[in-house]
Formats: sequence, structure tokens, C-alpha cells
Amino acid sequence: MTIWKPELSGQGPVYRQLAQAIANAIEHGELQPGQRLPTHRALANQLGVTVGTITRAYSEAEHQGWLTARIGAGTYVREESSEPALSWHIRQPDPERIELWQNLPILQDRQNAFSDAVDQILATPGRLNALMEYSSVNGELSQREIVSQWLQKYGFSTAIPERLFFSFGAQNGVLLSLMACGAVGETVLCEGLTYPGLSTLSHSLRIQLKGLAMDEEGLLPQALEKACQSGNYRTLYLTPTVQNPTTATMSLTRRQEILALCERYQLTVIEDDVHGILPEKRPPALAELAPERVIHLGSFSKNTSAGLRLGYMLVPAHLHTAMSIAVRGSCWMITPFMIELTCQWLVSGHADRMLLQQRKILRERGELLRHHLAKFGVQYQEGGMHAWLPLPPYWRCQSFVQAANQQGIGVAGAELFSAAHFPSPQAVRLSISHPGDNVSLDKALCILRELLETEPTPQWII
Ligand SMILES: Cc1ncc(COP(=O)(O)O)c(C=O)c1O
Repeated sequence: MTIWKPELSGQGPVYRQLAQAIANAIEHGELQPGQRLPTHRALANQLGVTVGTITRAYSEAEHQGWLTARIGAGTYVREESSEPALSWHIRQPDPERIELWQNLPILQDRQNAFSDAVDQILATPGRLNALMEYSSVNGELSQREIVSQWLQKYGFSTAIPERLFFSFGAQNGVLLSLMACGAVGETVLCEGLTYPGLSTLSHSLRIQLKGLAMDEEGLLPQALEKACQSGNYRTLYLTPTVQNPTTATMSLTRRQEILALCERYQLTVIEDDVHGILPEKRPPALAELAPERVIHLGSFSKNTSAGLRLGYMLVPAHLHTAMSIAVRGSCWMITPFMIELTCQWLVSGHADRMLLQQRKILRERGELLRHHLAKFGVQYQEGGMHAWLPLPPYWRCQSFVQAANQQGIGVAGAELFSAAHFPSPQAVRLSISHPGDNVSLDKALCILRELLETEPTPQWII
């Protein structure tokens, strides 16, 4: 039982004093990472204040990044390692470890593609200097034409220059879309398990997320309808194709059901389709079915280069002004040179080659995954960068992540994806694209298979 006693400064509202006392205690080591805080009621009794004051203080400290609340389990001092937004590290060449916890594109050599594109740009007199100036809010018409045509080739028929905006990758696309929808400070609906980048953004924008129940096809229409009947919501964020993290892909019927509800309850949908370019076959994007209800987000991160930070959005006409304001207000424009470089790759065929290479290697890795883990019910969509592994009943998520970690394998536990403390299942996400080569992936999967076959040793405590 925690016996921490906060020291209040006596200045300002009590909830702020308490939030400050929590921050001080963590900074001075009086409260340790992972330590549980007193219950709201216990602390309210101790300090002689209302439970509401404690709730407000904890939520303020949580917003500031000091605490994390776990549904039904209490409030804890945040541990760096359990917080994806704060403990971000990319592919590390540590020979002792194999990481399967981030959706990084398969490594590719872009040297030739880059120099070809730069040669093209430099070959046109004045072009480079023009790209170094301020430009229009959504790139040049010719660039939007190139991107639209390329997307149409891959089945996105609603990709037309008039609807297309650029972004700094899909993550920035989510931010711009939330801004354009006027969602800042509101409650946004989403899948109960969702892309952690949305949670990070919501945290900064003081957006409340309301995570909704899902099944093997993703968001459940009944859950959406129930939420819409009980509150006034305007925005729904969804990843209907190769959902991150569960891999769920909505059937056409499910898509139509969800869109019918969005129409009935006047919801704008932010369709995050960043993984949707990878599968060779997929159902139509939501934006194909309801172009005026859906902002469709994609990016070149997963198929050509994450470092170029180029994404695109297909935006309904009534949101064009709001989207222009969001882009202007946040960055004036998306880097013209980067748009041009990508367009060169789209025209020259380098982008197709890179996409096909991603698909080919992901296909090989999908086979390895099935070979090792099919009998454990691993869920995987062809072309996906990640798989979802529900754990056998004898494994708890946290212990499995820890056990894998001890064996040098990094996997992502379901809790990382929980939207606003939505109950997370005993499952882990395996990013098969993360390892540098297929041999390392094979080795990691062998180790995980052995772990899954073994019941963990019971831990004793008195
Ligand atoms: C669902 C989803 N949206 C957005 C992103 C971020 O994409 P980008 O690198 O284009 O910002 C990711 C990255 O994994 C993702 O999984």
C-alpha cells in the first residue's frame, strides 16, 4: 500500500497544487516509475478534499505526462518504456536483439532513385530555385496530377487533383484532419485499439478519445450506433484496411454499414489508410464509397521512404477551406522539394519498383509468420507490415512481452494501442517488417514459438 503524502504549496486551486506535488515527487524520486498512487477516495480522505478534486489533479498530471491510468487497476507513475510517445527509438543495430515492435518499411537502397530525381530537377533551368521558394498551400497542380494518376493506378479512383492535399506523412495528415474537422478539444470516436499516434496527438490537443468495440472486421456498427445515440460526436477516426494493431480489414458490407451510420449521425470520417497501399487486393476505401463524408489519408512512408515525410489527403469539397487554413496555420506548405522528389519517383517508376519490393518481401515474411505461428491463431493480412497474436490463456500480455524481451525479442503489447484505457486483450503486435532481413525474422519467430509452447513459471509472492 502506498504511503506517499503530497506536500501542497497552498497557492492556487488545490487540484493544480496536487498535480504539481505529484510532478515534484516524481522528479525527486519520492514516487518511482511504475508505482501505484493512492486511490482517489483514500487521497481525498487524507487531504480532506473531494474525490472530484483528486480526479482532476490526476488527470492534469496524466495530461502533463507524469501518470498513466489503467482501467480498473488504478493510477501509476508513468514508466518511460511503456510510453511509445516518450520512449521512441528506431531500428537499432544491436546484434543481440531482434526488434518486432515497429512498423518500419523494409530496408531499401534509395541512392540511385535519389540521384536520378535530383538530376531531373537540376536539368530544368530555374526549377531548383523555384522549389526553394514559398509555394501554394497544396503543391503545384502538375504535382497533384502526378500523385493522383499514380494513386488511380493502384485503385483509388477518387484521387483527383482537385481533392488532393499534401501532408508531412500520415501522422501529420491526422493532425491536419482533426484541425480541419474542428475536433480540437472535442471527443473523437475511434476503434478501441488504435494507432498510438492518434493517442499521442489527442493528448497534446486535449482531444478525448472514445474507443469503440471491435470484432475481426474492425469497428462494430452496433458500438458506433450506441455511442452516437448516447452523445453528440462529429468525428470518427478509422483504419478500415489492415487495422493497426489488429490487422482487421472491413468487408464491403461492413464499410457500407459504418458509412450509413456516419451519414445518419452526420459524422466526418478520417480514414487512415497508410497501410492500405500494401495489399495487392483490398476492398474499396471508404472514400471511394462516400467521398463527401470521408477524409482519406495515405503516405509514401510505407512504400517508398518514411524519411521524406510525404503524405496525401483526399479531402471532401466542403472541407477544402478548413484544410487550407490548417496547413497554412501549421506550416504554410509542405516542403516543395520533397513533393517534387517524390513526383519524380512516381513518374520514373522508382516508386513502383520500391512498392513491389515491399510487397514481395512482406509476402515472404508473411509465409515465415504462418509457418511458425499459424497454429497459435496469428492474424495476418497479405501485404501487412504487422501481425496480431492473441496469446494462449496461460500467458498474460505483460509477462509475455517481458519474457520475449529477456530473449532479445521486442514485441508490442496490446496495452500500447488502447484508446483512452479501452480494455486491452491478452495479445501482442508483431511487426514483421522491422527486422533487417528474413533470417533475423525467422530466428525471432522460432524463439517466440518456443515461448508460446511453454507455460510461464508461476511467480510466488507472500
Ligand atoms: C495507422 C497509421 N497511421 C499513420 C502512421 C504514420 O505514418 P507516416 O509515417 O506517414 O506519418 C502509421 C505508422 O505506422 C500508422 O500505422
